[in-house]
Amino acid sequence: MRGAPVTVATTHVQRPPAEVRYADELARLRAADDAPTPPGWALSLRAARAFIVGDDKIGISRKFVGDPSLIDRALVSLATSRGLLLVGEPGTAKSLLSELLAAAVSGDSTLTIQGGAATTEDQIKYSWNYALLVAEGPSERSLVPAPLLRGMAHGKVVRFEEITRCPLEVQDCLLSPLSDRVLAVPELPGDAGMVFAREGFNIIATANTRDRGVNDMSSALKRRFNFETVFPIADFDTELALVEAEAGALLRRSGVTAPPRRDVLEVLVTAFRELRTGRTTRGDEMDKLSAVMSTAEAVAVAHAVGLRGWFLNGSAGTTTDLVSCLAGTAAKDSPEDLAKLRRYLEQHTSWRTGPQWRELRDARRELPGG
Ligand SMILES: Nc1ncnc2c1ncn2[C@@H]1O[C@H](COP(=O)(O)OP(=O)(O)OP(=O)(O)O)[C@@H](O)[C@H]1O
Ligand SMILES: [Mg+2]
Repeated sequence: MRGAPVTVATTHVQRPPAEVRYADELARLRAADDAPTPPGWALSLRAARAFIVGDDKIGISRKFVGDPSLIDRALVSLATSRGLLLVGEPGTAKSLLSELLAAAVSGDSTLTIQGGAATTEDQIKYSWNYALLVAEGPSERSLVPAPLLRGMAHGKVVRFEEITRCPLEVQDCLLSPLSDRVLAVPELPGDAGMVFAREGFNIIATANTRDRGVNDMSSALKRRFNFETVFPIADFDTELALVEAEAGALLRRSGVTAPPRRDVLEVLVTAFRELRTGRTTRGDEMDKLSAVMSTAEAVAVAHAVGLRGWFLNGSAGTTTDLVSCLAGTAAKDSPEDLAKLRRYLEQHTSWRTGPQWRELRDARRELPGG
């Protein structure tokens, strides 16, 4: 049975890679870049930093919110012969940062390995086209390069997402690419059997402190990475501005023309921060949720609130919509969390002023089982 033809149009792609989303900014940075550039890099360190943290004077948007010195250290690591490992809590933009770094350094963020319990060396290094392998034996034609081999052969940054979720022995196949900058393909004869990394190659790995810590990594491999911790956004106003901008952009892409309401977002970000830290803004101790209440989750909930308001009621999402959407985020890890959320709505909203807080308290019946 033949299916409908698959057409690929950039306009229909849900999330094009960073080098496509920001092609225009990258082209402008490249054209104006007169600072020294490490061998094999598409941009200088200065231009790469501007791409990530933004530069108003030349119209480059801020894409990662955080300490610019983290970006400097990350870029310097990538210019050395050690890999870069971004560690941190879930939803702190480690993956986003690794994508932006790869787009800035190599102009390509798509050489990505997704780590998981079932990741194999084939998915990291190379595999074979079995029809050609049977017909001609191992040859460069029958070799199917995976991201690591491609990155080494073309001098590009390879991204390894959630590296600590892979079995240790699979992770360790990065040892010689990182230290000797060579990958052996023993099946191929002669020179073809050794792939030497070209300038520009390096690895950015990410690891989550929640799922599995970095203890699940051999000390030999740890020594070949520089570790950088990515922290959650500390400041309320900065987090609010980020959630507003990101959720606004997601809503526009979903065909919603009503921008998210500022008062609703204020409640959302406040609630997320309090449920994350277990402390209210006036200093009361409260139960913190075991579910991850990260900025990335806050953006996802703000998006859902906007969609709910627009597609169900034809207007921007309200605080009542927020309570409905919160349940799906808060009640992931344990049923306890739902009870904690209910208690929060009952006990920690009454002292606050503003109609949106009253509405939030009244909307607790929207919680499942309420
Ligand atoms: N400091 C930040 N700067 C920019 N965006 C941020 C920041 N923190 C969170 N975000 C939001 O989070 C989203 C990215 O989350 P991302 O998936 O990269 O996090 P992560 O740390 O890789 O999470 P996980 O550990 O679950 O893989 C961004 O698209 C953005 O909306
Ligand atoms: Mg990630």
